[in-house]
Order: sequence, then C-alpha cells, then structure tokens
Amino acid sequence: MASDGKVAIITGAGSGIGKATALAFLNDGYSVGFAGRRRDPLENAIKEAGEKASRAIAVPTDISNPGAVKNLFSKTRDKFGRIDVVFNNAGFGAPPVALEDLTIEQWKAVVDTNLTGTFLCIQEAFRVMKSQNPRGGRIINNGSVSAHVPRPNSAPYVATKHGITGLTKSASLDGRKYDIACCQIDIGNAMTERASRISRGVLQADGSIKPEPMMNVREVANAVLYMASLPLDANVQFMTIIATKMPYIGRG
Ligand SMILES: NC(=O)c1ccc[n+]([C@@H]2O[C@H](COP(=O)([O-])OP(=O)(O)OC[C@H]3O[C@@H](n4cnc5c(N)ncnc54)[C@H](OP(=O)(O)O)[C@@H]3O)[C@@H](O)[C@H]2O)c1
Repeated sequence: MASDGKVAIITGAGSGIGKATALAFLNDGYSVGFAGRRRDPLENAIKEAGEKASRAIAVPTDISNPGAVKNLFSKTRDKFGRIDVVFNNAGFGAPPVALEDLTIEQWKAVVDTNLTGTFLCIQEAFRVMKSQNPRGGRIINNGSVSAHVPRPNSAPYVATKHGITGLTKSASLDGRKYDIACCQIDIGNAMTERASRISRGVLQADGSIKPEPMMNVREVANAVLYMASLPLDANVQFMTIIATKMPYIGRG
C-alpha cells in the first residue's frame, strides 16, 4: 500500500469527516491514532476497518486538555514508533442564536476546542516531529469556508476558524526549521450527521431559509489523503473543497 509504515493522528475520528478520513488512511496503509472525547464512537469506527483495525488505536482525548493531548501523542508514538501526519479535525460551532444572546460559556467552549485544542495538538506535534528520526512531518488543519465568510449567527465558529488560518500560517513558518509542513483544508457542505441540517434548510444571509447542496464526505477524506501523500518539500498550503452548487461563490 502507498503509505505502509506511516503513522497518523486524527482528532474527531469517531464521526463524520474525521472517521471517513481515518478509515481512508487505514486503507492506504497508515497506522492511525483515533482521538475524540468519547471512547465508544472511536472503537465503533475502528471496528469498521475490519482486519486493518490492527493498525489503529483509540485514545479518548479532550483536545482542550494539555495533559490529554500529551497522552494522545505519547500513546500513538509508543505503539507505532513515530508520527508522520496529524489531522487537526475536531471542532464544532455554538448554537445558532443571535450574537448578543450567546453566553460566555458557549463562546469559551468553541474557543477551547477549535482554537486552543488545535494549538495544543500543533505544539505537541512539533515536539514529537522535530525530535524523531527521520525528522519532520505534516500537520493538516481543518478550517472551513467559515474561515473566509460567515453564516448568520455563527460568530464563535467563524472567529475560531479564521484563527485556524493564523495558526496554519504560523506553524508553516515556524515548522520549516524542523522539516514540518503545515497546511489547511477549508470544507464547504460535506454530508455528515452534524452538517445534515444544512441539507434540510438553513438560515441564509438574506433572512430566508433554504436547503443547500452537499457533497459526499469521502471526497474530503480523499483530499486530505492527497495532501498527506506529498513529500515534505512540497505542500498544498490551502485547499478549498466545496459542494459545487452551494451558495458560497457568488453574491448572496
Ligand atoms: N461537515 C462540513 O460540511 C464541514 C464544513 C466545514 C468544516 N467542517 C469541520 O470539520 C470538522 C468535523 O466536522 P463534522 O461535520 O465531521 O462533525 P462531527 O461529526 O461532529 O465531528 C466532530 C468530531 O470532533 C470531536 N470533538 C469535539 N470536541 C472535541 C474535543 N474537545 N476533543 C476531542 N474531540 C472533540 C467529536 O467527538 P466527541 O464528541 O466524542 O469528542 C466529533 O467526532 C469540524 O472541525 C468542522 O468545523 C465541517
């Protein structure tokens, strides 16, 4: 297989994009550390891999907790020997209420996971990748088209996804001296359980509610796999992958 012997960590691997990507990585020959807060979805996802499950490990992890992130990286490295790729995928939005009605707890929950959690995983990836032999690796951050433009009532999500772009750029620059490449995938409307509400009808910028076109989550998994497949001296710095007919390109 193309990636025999390579090792990846994927956060949010128990569902949606993370699960589809983790299974695609296993199929391609990677060993994979599956991370997420709940153990059951991680173990159920690994079961779907059949015989390839022997190259997977479930590590229940809240990425907003620095100790848990350290544990995720050390468990995965101890089991598989090194870490070549980290897909920072875990994330979510606050309930879609008016900006002025958000609670501080709702704001902080999104910042803690989407921004602080991604930062902690980048930091730990640096520590491991700079000291392994051969040195280096690749970090792929999951942004969103919300890293470019907002939906109504999504300030914490949009602000943190814009923040991911800053983290990607900083990690790309600071990682060069360690042979660490960093890149970002910005997704629009991949059909997951969480995103399925968009296909049923979602608030638009003009106040109307409309269902939006979606794409299959496997297209995202294949795109992440491609980004991961490049040699470390080449990098897809940013990739935008969207449902072709979603209302993103064009004036709304
Ligand atoms: N689907 C889309 O169209 C779309 C578009 C743009 C961007 N994205 C991004 O893609 C990512 C995945 O989205 P999805 O649609 O696949 O949704 P999802 O199925 O809800 O995936 C989110 C995953 O993150 C995990 N998670 C949440 N908080 C965590 C934490 N603190 N620590 C560790 N894991 C945590 C969840 O598992 P636990 O609850 O068990 O922790 C869950 O498996 C998100 O970052 C989202 O912003 C998705």
